[in-house]
Amino acid sequence: MKENFTRREFLQTACIGISALSVASVPTNVFGSNEDQKNSSLPSCDVIVVGSGGAGLRAAVAAKAENPNLSVIVVTKSMPSRNATSMAEGGINGVTDTSNGDSYELHSFDTIKGGAYLSDQDSVIKFCELAGKAIHELDYLGMPFSRGKDGKVTRRMMGGASKKRCNYSADKTGHIVMHTCLDDAITNGVKFLMDYELLDIATKDAKAEGVVVRNIRTGDITPILAKSIIIATGGYARIFWNRTSNPYSTTGDGVAAALRAGIAFKDAEMVQFHPTGVVHGGTLITEAARGEGGYLINNQGERFMAKYAKEKMELAPRDIVARAIETEIREGRGYGEGIEAHVLLDVRHLGKDKIIKKLPQIRHTGLLFENLDLTDSPIGIRPTAHYSMGGIDVKSMDDMATYTSGVFCAGEASCISIHGANRLGGNSLADAVVTGKLSGIGAAKYASKAKFTDSGLLEEIAKKWREKIKNVANGEGTPNDLYAIREELGKQNWDNMGIYRTGDKLESLYKKIYELQKRYDTLHIQNTNPIYNTAITDYIELGNLLLLSRAVCFAAINRKESRGAHTREDYPKRDDANFLKHSLVTLENNEMKLSWRDVSISKFPIKEGK
Ligand code: FUM
Repeated sequence: MKENFTRREFLQTACIGISALSVASVPTNVFGSNEDQKNSSLPSCDVIVVGSGGAGLRAAVAAKAENPNLSVIVVTKSMPSRNATSMAEGGINGVTDTSNGDSYELHSFDTIKGGAYLSDQDSVIKFCELAGKAIHELDYLGMPFSRGKDGKVTRRMMGGASKKRCNYSADKTGHIVMHTCLDDAITNGVKFLMDYELLDIATKDAKAEGVVVRNIRTGDITPILAKSIIIATGGYARIFWNRTSNPYSTTGDGVAAALRAGIAFKDAEMVQFHPTGVVHGGTLITEAARGEGGYLINNQGERFMAKYAKEKMELAPRDIVARAIETEIREGRGYGEGIEAHVLLDVRHLGKDKIIKKLPQIRHTGLLFENLDLTDSPIGIRPTAHYSMGGIDVKSMDDMATYTSGVFCAGEASCISIHGANRLGGNSLADAVVTGKLSGIGAAKYASKAKFTDSGLLEEIAKKWREKIKNVANGEGTPNDLYAIREELGKQNWDNMGIYRTGDKLESLYKKIYELQKRYDTLHIQNTNPIYNTAITDYIELGNLLLLSRAVCFAAINRKESRGAHTREDYPKRDDANFLKHSLVTLENNEMKLSWRDVSISKFPIKEGK
């Protein structure tokens, strides 16, 4: 036995291949779980989690803890440690200390108000209680939080919060949450299918049968039977392609697959623009920079937030700060032109020591992307598409089940309406671990009683995908077609569905997306080699981005009001009389359909938006 493991080797101890999932001729699979109910030759597992971010990892551990006899697999497109969670920076909200006057109730109120009252209040109240407990759980798991001299976890202010409740590890909190959850998953026997991408989920008569996945390394397409499926593939802000803080591989695959499987996409139009993305490329500069006291400055040298949010200044909720920055740029008080237009974030006055201690990640980001040191230079920033408040419609927060039996979801892919129309900084990591755990327990309870169902649908879907890929990757086409469409989609979405929206722009975008879809439908890929053919992965992802763009645009056209992150210049007011409700987009015969559901209000009366 080797004494020294590299991190990569440690991760690989948990990675398996499809062959480890039993086939009918083998009575038990690699986990020793009972396969007797299975009447199928397909590979199978009891609980399949798609996505290895904080939500997916927490879900997998919770499922295993709920019933250790179940086989629990995480499907992940790359190394399990590479995901959007690892890119979250500023911190994780949760009330663990009430000595500063904080409470679950106050956290709930801030979240609901910040979300422009589109939050379902019972979801928020439950979330805030569980978020506090989740911090303790992470602490017990050994997460190295930043601590004060008294040994207690320290907290910082984040936008829209009325108290310091954002617990952190310098400005690398997501990275550390994710590794804490990953270590826990591996030590608890969770197994990973690494380098596999989700193609579709199979559901029949509103019941899950399993998933179809593609091995990115070999190109093999395989159906996997599953009793429970947990979708934890993250958000869809990549529809804005190169103006997002999301990782390259987070392309909303699970939300798109759910939509194709007949599951509703809730509040699709609600995409958050984080105020501070690096001007070249959109990578996140954490809100913690402002939480620690950083300034936003226009080309007149003014701290312009005084005009937009006199009291909260740079720490107003994100939608307000993002709009303020765009307004400064539109009115000529920014720097640069076009996609490179920006204002400045200045943290120099915090002093080198504080920057190095509390904000090392953004100093590194500044050096990497802009070749400048934040200790002696301000940095150009502009809003960047950051977070999807919308997502897969969830029926109950108790178990994060959808309306399709056996399909659960968690984290940013899901929408249980905690964040409403605008999420507060620090609430996403908390959402990931809270909803991850609930979904894992829910999925395990369901799988403990359910039986595998193989109606032939999974193999049918897999066959369709095999034929499709064979026809597309046939050696024809021109090399850059795929990337030209992707680039154009991002640009069109940014120009017409960005921070400021109008009906005319959205309508013309909707038509444009159809044109891009037509170009996509006739695409060919020149490289026919199945081995690590990343053009095929890009092709599959682009299909998802096109579908999701269409759904987001469709919902945005129909929400004729301004609320949170959704700003309609032609309908500048919040309209509670007509739109205090959730949009639900479904796909029927490849056409988008829209319905609405009332927001659930319980404890906090609706207040006028100011
Ligand atoms: O700015 C940030 O650190 C982002 C945090 C979040 O989205 O919660």
